[in-house]
Amino acid sequence: MLESIEIENTIDTDQIKAGSKPLAYKLNDIQPKLCIQHISKTFLSKNGGVSALEDINLEVKEGEFVCIVGPSGCGKTTLLNIVAGLEKADSGEIWISGRKINGAGSDRVVIFQEAALFPWLNVIKNVEFGLKQKGINGSQRRNTAMEYLKLVHLTKFQHAHVHELSGGMKQRVAIARALAINPEMLLMDEPFSALDAQTRWILHFELQSIWLKTKKTILFVTHNIREAVCLADRIVILSTSPGRIKKEFSVDLPRPRDDNDVNVAEYSTRIMKELKAEINKVLKCEMDADSCVECDIKCTTEEAAKTDAGGGI
Ligand SMILES: Nc1ncnc2c1ncn2[C@@H]1O[C@H](COP(=O)(O)OP(=O)(O)OP(=O)(O)O)[C@@H](O)[C@H]1O
Ligand SMILES: [Mg+2]
Repeated sequence: MLESIEIENTIDTDQIKAGSKPLAYKLNDIQPKLCIQHISKTFLSKNGGVSALEDINLEVKEGEFVCIVGPSGCGKTTLLNIVAGLEKADSGEIWISGRKINGAGSDRVVIFQEAALFPWLNVIKNVEFGLKQKGINGSQRRNTAMEYLKLVHLTKFQHAHVHELSGGMKQRVAIARALAINPEMLLMDEPFSALDAQTRWILHFELQSIWLKTKKTILFVTHNIREAVCLADRIVILSTSPGRIKKEFSVDLPRPRDDNDVNVAEYSTRIMKELKAEINKVLKCEMDADSCVECDIKCTTEEAAKTDAGGGI
């Protein structure tokens, strides 16, 4: 059943100001793995401010797989970067396992659209890289790296060079490298969007299998609703300009899920209906760049040109 969840604020702001844990922790006695509290972000440019995120509140449970979906420019990457500690919010706080975070850390690993592998290292050395940084000794490092290469089915390619790998293989190495350092969370920003449909389909199975084995907490950004339905326990839809949480859906389908499954298609269609209004808003902004009344931003032609219409949704 497709279940739409009303968004409510479970956080006691007085408690946050006092520097203690949010009330929600105490009520449920279950500490979320990730707690995003009142995050807002405006980018300033010579044409004025772009309100990328406004008062985002989200909790992600330990082992949960959450997808963030929304039209292009709605602030998905900005939110992920703030959680990663790569970008600073104007206001709000990020908590991981009850710790307030102030920057990047090895407890969170980001996997980007283009696998950021080191081209001068071979596959196994790429996977070992983070372990070496952590000071783990040679044989232990090699064993752990091999374990994760096995998980992504790339054992045979351990000595291959990065340029010898396909796009999908590179992303699997990036996943192995991320998991090898045993982070608390994986943050994935459209990691499969540059891949062809068939490779993406294979990687959807692979990521589901990895998640079922490791039960890592994953925050995954995508344009692609079917991908989100295929992967997520919960889908969070962001609205555009400013980026706010519009709605959440929990996806209660058995795994592994197949993109082509009729239930996945049905879920996707229903979520797409929710997103239609947002996509139309972006299109209107593009077509009517001088008088973008529905957006809170003062939309110049230059800014509108940056705003993709949400292709791929
Ligand atoms: N460094 C920056 N300087 C100015 N504006 C920025 C900057 N980074 C992002 N923005 C603006 O903030 C808004 C949100 O951008 P963001 O990249 O987070 O969107 P997105 O949802 O990830 O889009 P896409 O789906 O196209 O990747 C956009 O309007 C974008 O132009
Ligand atoms: Mg993005």
